Amino acid sequence: MVQLTLPKNSTVRTGKTWPKPEGAKNLRKFQIYRWDPDTGENPRVDTYFIDMDKCGPMVLDALIKIKNEIDPTLTFRRSCREGICGSCAMNIDGINTLACIYGLDEVKGDVKIYPLPHMPVIKDLIPDLTHFYAQHASIMPWLETKTNRPAKEWRQSIEDRKKLDGLYECVMCASCSTSCPSYWWNGDKYLGPAALLHAYRWIIDSRDEATGERLDNLEDPFKLYRCHTIMNCAKTCPKGLNPAKAIAEIKKMMVSRVV
Ligand code: SF4
Ligand code: FES
Repeated sequence: MVQLTLPKNSTVRTGKTWPKPEGAKNLRKFQIYRWDPDTGENPRVDTYFIDMDKCGPMVLDALIKIKNEIDPTLTFRRSCREGICGSCAMNIDGINTLACIYGLDEVKGDVKIYPLPHMPVIKDLIPDLTHFYAQHASIMPWLETKTNRPAKEWRQSIEDRKKLDGLYECVMCASCSTSCPSYWWNGDKYLGPAALLHAYRWIIDSRDEATGERLDNLEDPFKLYRCHTIMNCAKTCPKGLNPAKAIAEIKKMMVSRVV
């Protein structure tokens, strides 16, 4: 029988229950993952109560309220609060999404909040995205050209520009990659849905002149082909994008250039 040795800090324990706000008539319970590696303690889930009559409508509003009024040590990333910067991605009620555009009314019952799954945690709700960003950089996320630079700008027809719709809107939140079982298991070598969506965004750009080089870079048993069309990426993307479709388009291009 296989014997597994669990790493230190692998057990999540029940944490502190913070007091309910006095006089509140419309209470909501929040259970939030907490872990501060500097303490050497195990992760825990803390319980907070918020007066919903004094809270904004989004999950991020509740997190900011907790941090401002109850527990200033609660740590999470956020910036734009309108689904553009991608920094507030976390797991809410079992779904990887952006806290700033996820309504509290979309959650049934208690609100359970965890960091994005299968990523190293820096603290509380903050995942370490170093590897994720390195994978993004590896697909050369910029316009690569060989011809002389035009006097004014690289021109593009309206039809060619439309091919970028459904791709350029990605905010690199990592919700898709961290919902993908293939990425959980092979994230060291499989690029994952977010990086591959960006790869396709540059492959399909009519102004780019490095298409062959880009496809060469993905011709690998792991980088591209570990996508098994599970489709969690498209299901979870808070921007309504479909990375699996972009990956399928790259695979088709790979086949057509071999033939
Ligand atoms: S494709 Fe969607 S889920 Fe994935 S990183 Fe981009 S915005 Fe986030
Ligand atoms: S705070 Fe920018 S996407 Fe949520």
